[in-house]
Amino acid sequence: MQKVVKYRCPSNIALVKYWGKKDGGVQLPANASISWSLSDLFAETTMIATPSNQTQLVFKYDGNPKPSFEPKILDFLTRIAPFSDFVNQHSFEIDTINNFPHGTGIASSAAGFGALALCIADLEGQFEIGSNEFYQRASFFARLGSGSACRSVYAAPAVWGEHTDVQDSSDLFAVPFEGHIHESLQNWKDCVLIVDDGEKKVSSTAGHSLLKNHPYAEARFKQAQKNIGNILQFMQQGNVSDFIALVESEALQLHSMMMSSIPYFTLIRPGTLAIMEEIWTFREETNLPIAFTLDAGANVHLLYSSEIEEQVINFIHTKLLVNCKKGLYLCSSTGGKPLKLS
Ligand code: DP6
Repeated sequence: MQKVVKYRCPSNIALVKYWGKKDGGVQLPANASISWSLSDLFAETTMIATPSNQTQLVFKYDGNPKPSFEPKILDFLTRIAPFSDFVNQHSFEIDTINNFPHGTGIASSAAGFGALALCIADLEGQFEIGSNEFYQRASFFARLGSGSACRSVYAAPAVWGEHTDVQDSSDLFAVPFEGHIHESLQNWKDCVLIVDDGEKKVSSTAGHSLLKNHPYAEARFKQAQKNIGNILQFMQQGNVSDFIALVESEALQLHSMMMSSIPYFTLIRPGTLAIMEEIWTFREETNLPIAFTLDAGANVHLLYSSEIEEQVINFIHTKLLVNCKKGLYLCSSTGGKPLKLS
């Protein structure tokens, strides 16, 4: 019998970054990472599963067939297959859409694989939908698509990778951080300032692999583990200034690792730097709680407490938009959870 399900899954932004993989598995992180989900930047995916003794796939984007995406998704299903009889015994039709425009440089893989993983965990029916085990299974599947995607299935800050300070943390899936977050670090927002909307010169997957012979890799992994312990403390205590310093340092370390890879590369653009400088000046002048972070690209994620939204939007318009491609930026709340839509 055919089964149909539809999920919405948010994207996420890492505060402490995953950059580098361990040997001996698929997407096992070299260090733990933590992220906020981005509730207003999401993928919606419908999955139709038909019993079959061969896993076949039809992939559509917004109702239009996209055969060029099929090898990547089939590869994902092949990685899941050893863990799921359900995947082995079905063919799939998948129709997905992102609510953010294509060609903004915003990675769609976290939301996309997150949504796919939720559909599969739901359809295979092994765990009660909405239970901890259910989300853990979805996170496990999502990781096999793209590492950072495994953090997208939780509303709470998600930690992925073994860490002594986080109970039940694992390299195989992300877990929600259950500690109490101080109110000064709840309800932050993220405005993504689109500096470059082109294809990335180096994919994340290729970037990760350059950590293999990287002269500073071990030091970076150690520092990231330490930063996880520290950021969790800052978030619980409401130590906003140290939180901001750590988050910005993480973004710069990520890009420093790219610049010191062999061969080296850069993803930040002049506009990225100009925006960072403006943010530092603005913070010095106003003392307001804003910070930037970067993912593997030129765009700047401007993080701020929702209480100062008006000042921040004004700041974006007066100082930052000149550095945004086509004046484009996209804002999201943090901390949204996935939704089952049908
Ligand atoms: C810089 O998850 O995209 O965004 O596991 O190879 O698919 P793969 O890589 P990916 O790497 C994302 C790296 C990052 C930092 C982060 O999200 O933690």
